[in-house]
Amino acid sequence: MSFESRPSPSLGVLASGTGTILAAIIDAKLPVMLVVVDRPCLAVDLAAEAGVPVEIVPRTSFGAGFDRAAYTEQVVDVLQRHAIDVVAMAGFGTVLAAPIFERYAGRVLNTHPALLPSFKGWHAVADALAYGVKLTGCTVHVATEAVDEGPILAQEAVPVFDDDTEEQLHERIKSVERRLYPETIRAFLERQELQGVPR
Ligand code: GRF
Repeated sequence: MSFESRPSPSLGVLASGTGTILAAIIDAKLPVMLVVVDRPCLAVDLAAEAGVPVEIVPRTSFGAGFDRAAYTEQVVDVLQRHAIDVVAMAGFGTVLAAPIFERYAGRVLNTHPALLPSFKGWHAVADALAYGVKLTGCTVHVATEAVDEGPILAQEAVPVFDDDTEEQLHERIKSVERRLYPETIRAFLERQELQGVPR
């Protein structure tokens, strides 16, 4: 792997859901060169409207036989084919395995809708609500193979109101994520640029 300084590291975004975080990243004019999805979802239309290439790496199994490592290899191949330097997960519904964290070590970012290390996992908002916390929030961090761990880059608190539904609370958190994640990605890319991206 050679190290060279190139002006703009290119960003790939992984998404599965409604794509509102992806939309915020695109609106922030970050250098999104590719969107990868694991299923048909609104993120595909959003990327297409913005003129960003989309690759669907379909997840064929949701059962016990799912080969996570092989699936991850396919995602990495697609990212490599598009010369992606930094990966931002934005509500990607498949937990990825070691290959991406080896190939993109320290260069996979994630936003999580809770104040880590509290409420890890896919049900973070419901879990925070069920626990009865009065403050939750979001965390932008460097993703590692251990889910929702890895160095924290930014956090912001969000209040929980007594009559909140999961949907209302999640939307309040996402309104912060849509600002904090792009800001944090931008600062991260600027640091990568200064240091030279490993290729
Ligand atoms: C965000 O809350 C993110 O933290 C979580 O998934 C959500 C994605 O939101 N991992 P959207 O689908 O982009 O609206």
